[in-house]
Amino acid sequence: MKLVIKGGRVVDPANDIDAVMDVMIEDGLIKAVEVNILDREGTIIDAAGKIVCPGFIDMHVHLREPGFEYKEDIASGTRAAAAGGFTTVCCMPNTDPVIDTAAVASFVRERAVRSGVVNVLPIGCISKRQAGQEITEMADLVAAGCVAVTDDGRPVSDAALMRNALEYAKMFDLPVLSHCEDLSLSRDGQMHEGYHSLLYGLKGIPTAAEEIMVARDIILAELTKSHVHICHASTRGSMNLIRAAKLRGVNVTCEVTPHHLILTDEIVGDYDTDTKVNPPLRSAEHLEALREALLDGTVNCIATDHAPHHPESKDCEYDLAAYGISGLETAVALIMDSLVDKGILDWSEMVELFTIGPAEVLGIDKGTLDIGADADITILDPLAIKTVDPALFHSKGKNTPFKGRTLKGWPWMTIVKGNVVAQGGSLV
Ligand code: DOR
Repeated sequence: MKLVIKGGRVVDPANDIDAVMDVMIEDGLIKAVEVNILDREGTIIDAAGKIVCPGFIDMHVHLREPGFEYKEDIASGTRAAAAGGFTTVCCMPNTDPVIDTAAVASFVRERAVRSGVVNVLPIGCISKRQAGQEITEMADLVAAGCVAVTDDGRPVSDAALMRNALEYAKMFDLPVLSHCEDLSLSRDGQMHEGYHSLLYGLKGIPTAAEEIMVARDIILAELTKSHVHICHASTRGSMNLIRAAKLRGVNVTCEVTPHHLILTDEIVGDYDTDTKVNPPLRSAEHLEALREALLDGTVNCIATDHAPHHPESKDCEYDLAAYGISGLETAVALIMDSLVDKGILDWSEMVELFTIGPAEVLGIDKGTLDIGADADITILDPLAIKTVDPALFHSKGKNTPFKGRTLKGWPWMTIVKGNVVAQGGSLV
């Protein structure tokens, strides 16, 4: 089967391409990326005025299956991913049971083949049962297709366990993804600790709760010469630590989320529980530091931390609500609207953060339009204007603080292995 995407602006940072070109797909693979392909066989997609990119990757997604299917499942979560412009998602292991054995990882992969509409790469646990006491059989997890390990949702509090995990993971070239949180500092915290937490009367989470663990993990990565990846980094101090560590050659990478790049803690004053997330929305100073770090190479990728919740966990008092934001269906539009349209990022910088950036962190063969690569393609419409309406989400999680926002720039088409899976926010 042939498909030719004609006349779009092709942005493929890995190959240093930013030009109006055509992309030909044959049998699910990229066949050619050239100016004016004359072959008229197969289906023609007119992409004039659109941005044609390698398929976007979200390396931090909670698909909730197995165990929490009332919040999300692999079918609904991957539909949300496709609608949001993602062709590959990595799913976090804080399910029930957690992904700490090959059996659970294989289950997730099988379900993804059967009911998923985008590529799903499972991430296994660092510790058995995510209990933070004994490391998992990482060799088995790798054999079952896991691309990284993490105890995300909670930190690895025991430094010796983290050290062992880093040493063990290194044998398989596995990145260790760290949820950096010192629980003794963050416990019962509802929002960022600062002026607004005082004003709103909510218990604060200090930046130190994150930064102490970022510093520890950098030191352990340096000791073990292993790769540590900092999940959802949210503070100026974290960025300074990561930047300095990278400069002295430590194998540390990091991701930031759209919500930390766009919202500040001031918004919590509405007591809308959809603003409650961990790590919390920070103050403007930190938001600025994250944006600076996007530009100077400190940040490797943007990841959503898509955390869908059932309305019951959010329709309650702020301090009882669950932490998390349903992010898959707004992430790309938010970055296009808030950062690209405003001239903070250019197209190539944005596409890199969603494609080759995460692919390199994970060491996976994705994120480019290389000839012969899987034809995973995301096409963006920079002029589309739509208002975020969670009622229209494919995700079961309607928990977004961006509801009602009108955004300029939306994903237009999502193609996975040569098949069009979503167009204009609808599943095909
Ligand atoms: O806000 C969050 N929600 N942060 C996490 O680290 C976990 C996630 C979840 O699983 O709901």
